[in-house]
Amino acid sequence: MSKPHLLTKTEIKEKYDGFARWYDVVEALPEFFGVRALRRGLAGRVHGKTLEIAAGSGKNFRLLPEDVDLVAGDISRGMLQIADHKARKLGMRPKYALLDAENLPFPDDTFDTVLSTLSSCTFPDPAVAFQEMSRVCKPDGRILLLEHGRSSNRAIGWYQDFRAESHASKFGCQWNRAPVEIARNAGLELVDVRTYFFDVFAVMEARPASS
Ligand SMILES: C[S@@+](CC[C@H](N)C(=O)[O-])C[C@H]1O[C@@H](n2cnc3c(N)ncnc32)[C@H](O)[C@@H]1O
Repeated sequence: MSKPHLLTKTEIKEKYDGFARWYDVVEALPEFFGVRALRRGLAGRVHGKTLEIAAGSGKNFRLLPEDVDLVAGDISRGMLQIADHKARKLGMRPKYALLDAENLPFPDDTFDTVLSTLSSCTFPDPAVAFQEMSRVCKPDGRILLLEHGRSSNRAIGWYQDFRAESHASKFGCQWNRAPVEIARNAGLELVDVRTYFFDVFAVMEARPASS
């Protein structure tokens, strides 16, 4: 598997500040062809005091249960501005946090649910981010993840490797990682894992690592 050039966090933040206005338009096709259904299945499991990490443009907001007490965090102010616009239209009032997923500004055992979708591909060190999710999640809480990575299909996997470098430098997204293995090796106790579209997408429910 080729290792793409890593963008710095500042470069990733600037990229997403720039993408923010176009993000929903560019992502409309995959959302229509199945990603939205995967989000819906995951969002339905959210409960209680919830941290959404790398909430982006707030695509999950409308899918969350109404009584959720939500903190939406992201490294990009531009993305959170779009998210806030969406939240207002929905009559939601989440709290927002500009944050780095690899160094969360919350005490241990704070949240009932930690949610993150299609995001670890952009984190320089996703294992550290998963450990942080684990740390801020209550021991009886849940970490809910929708991730994408390298396909088990030969042709698709080959293509992902072939284009990894240019894809990463354009979008800050490393699409040939193995998020399920990374989450497991980071200590998350995976209680439910389902994969879709030749294993490109993975929906995971995990308990935090036991300390
Ligand atoms: C591909 S988008 C996914 C957005 C959203 N979760 C979704 O499902 O549509 C990746 C998001 O991760 C955010 N991000 C990238 N690196 C981050 C970091 N280190 N900490 C927090 N957010 C980060 C980006 O700003 C962007 O909003």
